[in-house]
Amino acid sequence: MTITLALSKGRILEETLPLLERAGIALADDPETSRSLVLKTRKSGLRLILVRASDVPTYVQYGAADLGVAGRDLLAEHGGQGLYQPLDLGIARCRMMVAVPRGFDYEAAVRQGARLRVATKYIATAREHFAAKGMHVDLIRLYGSMELAPLTGLADAIVDLVDTGKTLKANRLRAVEEIMRVSSRLIVNPASLKLKRAALAPLIERLRAASHG
Ligand code: ATP
Ligand code: PRP
Repeated sequence: MTITLALSKGRILEETLPLLERAGIALADDPETSRSLVLKTRKSGLRLILVRASDVPTYVQYGAADLGVAGRDLLAEHGGQGLYQPLDLGIARCRMMVAVPRGFDYEAAVRQGARLRVATKYIATAREHFAAKGMHVDLIRLYGSMELAPLTGLADAIVDLVDTGKTLKANRLRAVEEIMRVSSRLIVNPASLKLKRAALAPLIERLRAASHG
């Protein structure tokens, strides 16, 4: 029986590997040099697959991966259907925020009920946020480099992730509202948990201990 863990390259892989090591799981393949999207571990029966960050919930939902690590931002967009979320791993922490150009009076626009154009890759979450505030917005879907949208006149505001604030600063933007605090969670396919409980339950517990330690 093989257990498949879905991760995304970059930040999630980098921050999950130390947790896996603390849980006693080392890689057999070097992710830096391997071009393969399947990585072996030194633990028999456990393999890693590397997919796009936004595809991790989909792989786990359909059981193509038994478990995965995904940011709360992407889980909110996905909706979380068919996913068991037993553990906040506390990694890849940031905040999802509304940001506007430094010279733009967002507060006045909100007071006056202005209709804003908002660029984001988080369409569902942004829609819910502005609807809850009773604001009318036109959402423009982007897949990256959201910070460019106000600079080029594509949008009045953006919804994006902020950590140090350096990216906003470099693009003369300021954060005006927090939508949610983000960290990454362990997500598990519920059918896998039933069928492979003997292998999955101890793995989840070791990851719990590693993320708290
Ligand atoms: P894709 O490759 O599919 O476009 P991505 O570029 O958003 O995805 P990453 O930048 O690796 O992928 O981000 C993965 C996750 O890490 C995000 O979903 C979010 O939860 C978290 N994250 C993103 N940016 C930051 C940041 N600056 N600081 C901390 N965590 C972050
Ligand atoms: C993310 C996010 C922001 C940036 C925020 O992008 O989409 O652009 O990080 O981080 P900051 O507040 O610390 O500047 P991405 O993952 O592409 O960039 P990164 O790897 O440089 O953080």
